[in-house]
Amino acid sequence: MRDLNAKSPTKHFLAPFSDNTVQPPPVWLMRQAGRYLPEYRKTRADAGSFLDLCYAPKLAAEVTLQPIRRYGFDAAILFSDILVVPDALGQNVRFAEGEGPRLDPVKTVADLHRLDLSNTHYKFAKVCETVALLSKELPRETALIGFCGAPWTVATYMAEGRGSSDQAAARSWAYRDRQGFSELIGLLTEASIVYLSGQVDAGANALQIFDSWAGSLAEDEFERWVIAPTARIVAEIRRRHPQVPIIGFPRGAAALLQKYIDGTNVDGVSCDTSCPLSVMQAIAKTGKVVQGNLDPLLLVTGGEALDARADAICQAMAGLPFVFNLGHGIVPETPPENVARLVHRIRKTGN
Ligand code: CP3
Repeated sequence: MRDLNAKSPTKHFLAPFSDNTVQPPPVWLMRQAGRYLPEYRKTRADAGSFLDLCYAPKLAAEVTLQPIRRYGFDAAILFSDILVVPDALGQNVRFAEGEGPRLDPVKTVADLHRLDLSNTHYKFAKVCETVALLSKELPRETALIGFCGAPWTVATYMAEGRGSSDQAAARSWAYRDRQGFSELIGLLTEASIVYLSGQVDAGANALQIFDSWAGSLAEDEFERWVIAPTARIVAEIRRRHPQVPIIGFPRGAAALLQKYIDGTNVDGVSCDTSCPLSVMQAIAKTGKVVQGNLDPLLLVTGGEALDARADAICQAMAGLPFVFNLGHGIVPETPPENVARLVHRIRKTGN
């Protein structure tokens, strides 16, 4: 593994990526900034729309910092959204109150040709300004994670025009017109490289690629639409920024996880809740960093059920390159005090 120590001696989060297994493990949580926090709801109301918040560097930096102030996580994740990329490319994206994202769907190559990589500069620059503010304002010991959605997952929203349970629009397009769909994936791959690279230039210490719908594809489609574009992003980012660890999150694809790691060459993987601890251990034993996989609903439940599972995960991963996290994002119903309880419990591990 590459030596990252020289660059960031003080960031606990980076230790597992440079061959140092640490006790207690570093901890951060997906969606650690969000509606479960009253201070987020306040800033969000002041900002206007959700996308306005994503493009307002001071406010986006503020909501990124909120969970760090409360809990002292080892990493902050840039506050933004995976749908910033289609929005910046010129697709109409909006977030209807309480309904999730809505997009004017891209259904044909003609729709696709209305999007343009050269449109992205202004909006990507706003997000990178947030990263730059954060790298000044975060405590020295806190790492800053930049991110994007993987091309496949972003394409599912672009084709469907909203979230869906089966990603049917994108899967059907890929079967019906492989060439056209591959053009969409190619555009997203190039946009993701520009976007992630800009985040690193602005100060991100690590990157995560969210492939929330990776689990809906058959094996050969998985290779084509998940592994190949992610491999291209990883290779290009690594060529430009060899010191920055990249974590992949192919949610729902535990059975193809080893293939994903071998094919993409990511430095670490985030594992969802259904991924067995034995699979996480086997991967970590090969030297790749493993992150995950506490059920976000246990953070709603709290109490001894939460403690018991957090302990079991920490015990299973002790001595291995591991970052504590959830199997998916924090849900809005989560009582903030349960997050405090979890972080306190993990920090006691091995002390
Ligand atoms: O704290 C963090 O993790 C950083 C910020 C972040 C958000 N979205 C903020 C957000 C990150 C990393 C994401 C990633 C994201 N966005 C994914 C991949 C991870 C996953 O959850 O599977 C996906 C699929 C999206 C797309 C998206 N954004 C959906 C489907 C929704 C609606 C669902 C919901 O929770 O409302 C969003 C909105 C969104 N993104 C919110 C936040 C805090 C809530 C919007 C609000 O405040 O009204």
